[in-house]
Amino acid sequence: MSNAAPATEGQDRSDGPLHVAIIMDGNGRWAAARGLPRAEGHRRGVEALRRVVRAVSELGILHLTIFSFSSENWSRPATEIGDLFGLLRRFIRNDLATLHRDGVRVRVIGERAGLEPDICALLNEAEELTRGNTRLNLIVAFNYGSRQEIANAAQRLAREVAEGRRDPSSIDADALGQYLDAPDIPDPDLIIRTSGEQRLSNFLMWQAAYSELVFVPTHWPDFDKATLEGAIAEYARRERRFGGLAAKTGS
Ligand code: IPE
Ligand code: IPE
Ligand code: MG
Repeated sequence: MSNAAPATEGQDRSDGPLHVAIIMDGNGRWAAARGLPRAEGHRRGVEALRRVVRAVSELGILHLTIFSFSSENWSRPATEIGDLFGLLRRFIRNDLATLHRDGVRVRVIGERAGLEPDICALLNEAEELTRGNTRLNLIVAFNYGSRQEIANAAQRLAREVAEGRRDPSSIDADALGQYLDAPDIPDPDLIIRTSGEQRLSNFLMWQAAYSELVFVPTHWPDFDKATLEGAIAEYARRERRFGGLAAKTGS
């Protein structure tokens, strides 16, 4: 995701983000606040995801990355992991045809090895069916961790060096970026985290180098188009400099 030139470089401040990434957090607290099981929070979180995919399309955003299961989420109780995997299965089975009809291309980043075969088959099916779609890239970060993604890229580069196919001096940021999970997708312009937490939790740490971070207090199941528009308005007030000078004073 990092080799393409930053998609918004040189854009006017009023221009919207082309790539929005979301850390969908707060399902459990949403449920606890209502005396409901955590699983109900996750179920309502899928409904929020449907709303947001539609809203993002309407707003002309080209890439939406969603953090749906982290490498570290394996430390949750097995029942909760089962609930989350069940929801992913149901989401793909129920929504894939609609996503395809709406021109959404599904991509999956993260570690596939070790996932149950039926989950891998569903992820592959979603990617294959929607491969030709161009309206919106929906990048699902599933079993994803940024450190692991970077380590995997380093391993591939090291192998090329060991096999004599690459000179170590050719390893730079672009070369490493080529071996991340979705190298053709531009870096996120805007990363939103819901639920009030203010951290990345191992999400897109390489790609976030110049992303604008917006933290909203809303728990993910309550996230809607208005919340998204609020985050985009906050993004529009930011001044992106990419290490250069402010637009007003720079030449
Ligand atoms: C986000 O909600 C869903 C995942 C991390 C899979 P949480 O389950 O983290 O909800 P909280 O943070 O406990 O409220
Ligand atoms: C990040 O949320 C992972 C996802 C949203 C999938 P967590 O709830 O797992 O993050 P921490 O543990 O609060 O940092
Ligand atoms: Mg959480």
